[in-house]
Amino acid sequence: MLLAIDTSCDETALSLFDEHDYFTGKRVADCLVSEVVSSQVDLHAEYGGVVPELAAREHLVNFPHLLGALLKPINGDIEAISSVAVTRGPGLNGCLLVGLCFGKGLALGARIPLVLLNHIEGHLFGAMFSADFNAFEYPALALIVSGGHTLLVNVKGFRQYEIIAQTRDDAAGEAFDKCASLIGLGYPGGPKLSKLAQSGDATKYRLPIGLNKDNTSFSFSGLKTAVYRLVQDLDSEVENEQVKADVCASVENAIVVALIEKTKAGLNAVGAKQLFLCGGVAANATLRKELKNLAEEFSCRLIFPPIKYCTDNASMMGALALEILKQDKDGYESIRNMMRNGVYRGTKFREDAAGAKPRFPLTEVSN
Ligand code: KG4
Ligand code: ZN
Repeated sequence: MLLAIDTSCDETALSLFDEHDYFTGKRVADCLVSEVVSSQVDLHAEYGGVVPELAAREHLVNFPHLLGALLKPINGDIEAISSVAVTRGPGLNGCLLVGLCFGKGLALGARIPLVLLNHIEGHLFGAMFSADFNAFEYPALALIVSGGHTLLVNVKGFRQYEIIAQTRDDAAGEAFDKCASLIGLGYPGGPKLSKLAQSGDATKYRLPIGLNKDNTSFSFSGLKTAVYRLVQDLDSEVENEQVKADVCASVENAIVVALIEKTKAGLNAVGAKQLFLCGGVAANATLRKELKNLAEEFSCRLIFPPIKYCTDNASMMGALALEILKQDKDGYESIRNMMRNGVYRGTKFREDAAGAKPRFPLTEVSN
């Protein structure tokens, strides 16, 4: 069994996979034995955002209980774990450290391989859970949009990435959340804003589309300022349900148009066979619909994860780890045997000396 761990932000997430089933050709979703995600939303809501120190402490408290719950389907048999995969970054340093320390402890104690992973790359591999996914076809284009990241990536081959565009300031999810907060929708307001937007008129208020001529960058901070001014001008009118819905629809439109326009330019440049939409913002229905139309225009297939694998989870990290191990199956199995016999002295699949990487560009991942 492979144990996957992600504690990069405020979700404590663990998943367990049958490694052998994956190596013998089963789809990743059919190899999933168990998964748990513990959200800390309530803890951070009163501060209006994630408090890193509190999140790290909460991971430390949650982890042992969650591991117990995760192992229930295999009767708590911790010895069935034959490898551990942990997110090394990017993310909040203290949070990453908790997951890494647990992962290292488990791997060292049981003398089993340890694989360290990039969280953004994990978001991409979350798409493997889509019923539309069979295999990666290169080149592919990936739009990875979450609360912390906004990236348009040319996926040239297995683990070969070229960043086409990224944000200069706020991430798309952050823009949803901050605008939602300005409109008075609380935290985290992205999903609430997109729900209200469904009954609003997106043409009602003209809001800026960030950097609409620059296809190598996104920018959402200007939108935030414009929404701040709009809410001030509207004053108490913003309390009116229809006005609120119209503002939400206009905000959503400004974010979605920026994402679509740059993705379109990316598709023109790359000639992609597949278009991936991943990360928390991939849960947005308008974005999905618009990207689907765009993909059809370019005769490429749009693939996005099921909603529960859009936001942070450990199953997407497990999918990535399984694929890494499968690509080097013989090497991995011989290293695992050497470890079991206490004779392995290498560092591959044994990155004990590696620290957390709060900043971990996608282009720095390596086999
Ligand atoms: O991937 P994720 O769980 O965490 C990060 O790694 O950042 O993404 C969370 C982000 C939040 O900013 C949240 O507001 C946004 O995804 N989000 C949405 C929707 N659902 C989640 N944004 C717009 N529309 C949604 N339906
Ligand atoms: Zn994430």
